Amino acid sequence: MTSLLRRSAVAALVLLLYPFAPSPAPSSEKAPHASSESTALSDPGVEKKIDDLLHKMTLEEKVGQLVQYTSGQPTGPGTGRTDYEDMIRKGEVGALFNITTARQVNAFQRLAVEQSRLHIPLLFGLDVIHGFRTEFPIPLGLSASWNPDLIQQTARVAAQEASAAGVRWTFSPMVDIARDARWGRITEGSGEDPYLGSVIARAYVRGYQGTRLDAPDSMAACAKHFVGYGAAEGGRDYNSTEISEHTLRQFYLPPFHAAVEEGAATIMSAFNSLNGVPASANPFTLTQILRKEWGFQGIVDSDYTALAELIKHGIANDGTTAARKAFLAGVDMDMVSSLYHDHMAQLVKSGEVPEAAVDEAVRRILRVKFALGLFERPYADESKEAGAMLQKDSVMLARTAAEESFVLLKNSTVGSAPLLPLSPNAKTIALIGPLANDKANMVGSWGGLGRSQDAITLRTALNERIGAQNVHYAKGTEITGGTDDQLTEAVKVAEQADTVILALGENAGEMTGEAASRAFLGFPGRQEELLEKMVATGKPCVLLIFSGRPLTLPWAFQHVPAAMAVWFPGIQAGPALVRTLFGDANPSGRLTVSWPRSVGQEPLFYNALSTGRPAGKIDLTRPPRNAVEKYVSRYIDEQNSPQFPFGFGLSYATFTYGHVRVDKTKISAASLNEELQAREPKQSASLSASADITNTGTRPGVETVQCYLRFQGTSVAQPVRALTKFQRISLAPGETKKVTFLLGPSAFGIWNDQQKLAAEPAKVTLWIAPDSSQGMQATLEITK
Ligand code: NOJ
Repeated sequence: MTSLLRRSAVAALVLLLYPFAPSPAPSSEKAPHASSESTALSDPGVEKKIDDLLHKMTLEEKVGQLVQYTSGQPTGPGTGRTDYEDMIRKGEVGALFNITTARQVNAFQRLAVEQSRLHIPLLFGLDVIHGFRTEFPIPLGLSASWNPDLIQQTARVAAQEASAAGVRWTFSPMVDIARDARWGRITEGSGEDPYLGSVIARAYVRGYQGTRLDAPDSMAACAKHFVGYGAAEGGRDYNSTEISEHTLRQFYLPPFHAAVEEGAATIMSAFNSLNGVPASANPFTLTQILRKEWGFQGIVDSDYTALAELIKHGIANDGTTAARKAFLAGVDMDMVSSLYHDHMAQLVKSGEVPEAAVDEAVRRILRVKFALGLFERPYADESKEAGAMLQKDSVMLARTAAEESFVLLKNSTVGSAPLLPLSPNAKTIALIGPLANDKANMVGSWGGLGRSQDAITLRTALNERIGAQNVHYAKGTEITGGTDDQLTEAVKVAEQADTVILALGENAGEMTGEAASRAFLGFPGRQEELLEKMVATGKPCVLLIFSGRPLTLPWAFQHVPAAMAVWFPGIQAGPALVRTLFGDANPSGRLTVSWPRSVGQEPLFYNALSTGRPAGKIDLTRPPRNAVEKYVSRYIDEQNSPQFPFGFGLSYATFTYGHVRVDKTKISAASLNEELQAREPKQSASLSASADITNTGTRPGVETVQCYLRFQGTSVAQPVRALTKFQRISLAPGETKKVTFLLGPSAFGIWNDQQKLAAEPAKVTLWIAPDSSQGMQATLEITK
């Protein structure tokens, strides 16, 4: 046996025995703390137990495992049934979701375990997206921390709380790459970059699934929505996508692959059609890529009624066909549509679906149930539920997470110093705006069991910090709507104060998240008017932008001296904001999406291709002077560049970047490819690149040092920049640290014109940079 064959045989055995073990040849680098044991969950006896069960199961009972219904609060329109108690007893249901208390979970579980013939437990799922009861910032905000360890900790807390309520499966993380701020669900992901998205996807999976899935406080993760959902046409939710195989592999698939490598137990198939074939009936993505190429052994669950929607998509004219197409494409479990329940047995009997394929799908579902330990411990311990929620450390973590999510966008000097952090001389503060005292919105969309009473608002925290007598509050306007009187009162209040803090933004529930795409990305209602009136008072204004996406606010960014994106910060919104405003915490968040100037720029993303006619900086004050200025890829009425680029964020410290040093200027493609194809790549780096970073400010700060690459001369055009690594470093005032990036072979692999990941001869530019638009650079060459 050649060593390669031997390794493949071993790999196959490992997959058989440990279905959720990371696959042996990772295509993207692992984050520093990737745990190899995190998902090695099954044991040799499990497959045997599954065989035994499969032998005993009737066809109807097998089909039952493929069926999932919602209970309680529906999270979509639907054809879901509610008369399923009897079905559970008959073994006709495999999973339920939207049940949120241990008592309710146990009640349903008892029906399955004690009253069904084969006693197979149900799997209980829920959208635990950024916390269960302890609500953390929205995922887009969490991603702005660029801190995978922090994100992992938030996911761990979510798992501890949710599992205490009997929820052992979360429909998270959403790892969809999102390039369009109009899309409401941009709030729920980690932004536009596939590398950062992959690192964060792994962090969520590690956090949710813990070191052992069968630990009672672990939950199965679900990477969603497979795949391309974030590329919805026009940013309209659920819309069609056209994504070439190359773009799919280079941008949209990597975070899913990373989640699978990290051991995610489940994947959710998406609503959108992908190049004409709905993602929930797409054999290329679900079978060829996910199962064959990546060796995924867990459950593919459809999104909510996605199977029934195949009819509206136009690839099936009846439920039978929809069920057949989805199942044969690779969807194991039918969320809510009831089509597997209604048609699968008949499809098997008619020979259209092989029973062996049903057995395999059932096997995957039972594996996850075994892996979670549900056969041994089907019930949640009701006595521990209340105590698991809102633990002190969890709440402190929510505050830290909020602080790390804030992105300081602008901080101009007012008088002799930058406006932020606020000077202790600012004795009185006018606190204005509809989000200043709004508990409900702080928890953001998909707020799990987060309750508004758990949230501390900015007003409450500010009163506590400087005394209510020094805080002059006026709502100023509603998020939408508002009256002239409210505006007038706000002006009066602002005029009495030294400084104005404006808390403006979106309504989390209605304007962000699922089914909340927007065509206008300014402040809703009369908030822009309020902002302009506040600036007109001449008082220094700090603008806090509460939103689930970047908002187009060109006037604001020109006229307010200080602005910070604070997303929806979670239950510790107020304390985190106040600590940041007064400098106890120093903002370190960096944008994970390009922040547009105008809606017309969307979709907008930094890692775009050059085009054959790239435009430089555009002078919009005059028409193009000549053909060279005119016939380039540009708008006649807007810059191409974003308002703030991907990776951008200020600090109360300032940082400088020294020259980039690389340890070689030539690397051979042949040696890189040998490594890329090796089953056990050497751990040695192909390139080391370093630069000295200095804190030139007067406060300690955290800098996120970013390493970008560009390849030119390749078979397929590559982005003008692509993030390849990053490091967060803390620097004391005056301190310099050498930051070294060790780039492995995968950093140099590109998806080539044969749809293969390989290195090619190319001119390479490498940046070590504070964001995607600047930085120090070095060049090197990949030779043959
Ligand atoms: C529809 C959403 O697209 C999905 O993300 C969610 O997990 C399901 N509904 C279940 O609530």
